[in-house]
Amino acid sequence: MSTVLITGAARGLGLDFTTRYAAKGWRVLACARKPDALKGIKGDIHHHSLEVTDYKAVKALAQKLSGEAIDVLICNAGVGGSRGESAQSLGSLDPEIWREVFEVNTLAPLMIAEAFADHVARSKQRKLIAITSVLGSISNNNGGRYFYRASKTALNMEWSCLSKDLADKGVICVALHPGWVQTDMGGSGAPLTIEQSVPGMIKVIDGLKPSDNGHYLQYDGTELPW
Ligand SMILES: NC(=O)c1ccc[n+]([C@@H]2O[C@H](COP(=O)([O-])OP(=O)(O)OC[C@H]3O[C@@H](n4cnc5c(N)ncnc54)[C@H](OP(=O)(O)O)[C@@H]3O)[C@@H](O)[C@H]2O)c1
Repeated sequence: MSTVLITGAARGLGLDFTTRYAAKGWRVLACARKPDALKGIKGDIHHHSLEVTDYKAVKALAQKLSGEAIDVLICNAGVGGSRGESAQSLGSLDPEIWREVFEVNTLAPLMIAEAFADHVARSKQRKLIAITSVLGSISNNNGGRYFYRASKTALNMEWSCLSKDLADKGVICVALHPGWVQTDMGGSGAPLTIEQSVPGMIKVIDGLKPSDNGHYLQYDGTELPW
């Protein structure tokens, strides 16, 4: 039986990942701030309460799960930045929002990757996934959204470093963009539904090979420019 750990598992893309992996018969380690929201979902789901920026809690969870082999770890939890886009626009930049966005989108996934690298390395599939964004691409940038974009660019760099540093353990590190999706973050005007994005991402993850290590892909498997 394969095991997946998902952060931000109780809402949006994370909730759909949880539901679909459970339906596939996977053992799901579903980490969320409010794991009660997962109570109705059928399958082999193990709820863990986790605020991803509580690094003591991250280490404690890694210790608690020290016997586990985690085939796929999905760092999904993320924020767009409270108080809307104006706080991230030139002329009205709010440094507090920078700190919030970087803490959740950039620092937390790296601390989680560090804490759980051995759990992933001892598994069969050995896949470490960051849910990033095309907005983190430097070569495909049209400006604005300074904090969110930069947080995902830095996340991409972290995953590139992890792809080098964990290569000798056989871990496949991939930065994966879900597309622009109708969630609380993506908004109702997004072109993709969750049902179009998440099954695509699961198909991409299922098909990852060692040669995909260090790549930046989107939900349909297309390679993205860094
Ligand atoms: N939707 C899009 O169009 C889109 C596009 C590109 C990338 N993404 C990325 O996809 C990922 C999921 O986004 P989404 O669209 O599903 O957004 P969402 O509906 O707003 O959900 C965000 C998830 O992250 C969790 N989260 C946020 N801060 C957290 C924290 N400090 N500790 C633990 N969990 C936390 C939330 O948990 P709570 O329920 O506890 O708040 C929620 O489960 C994010 O990394 C996002 O940047 C989304």
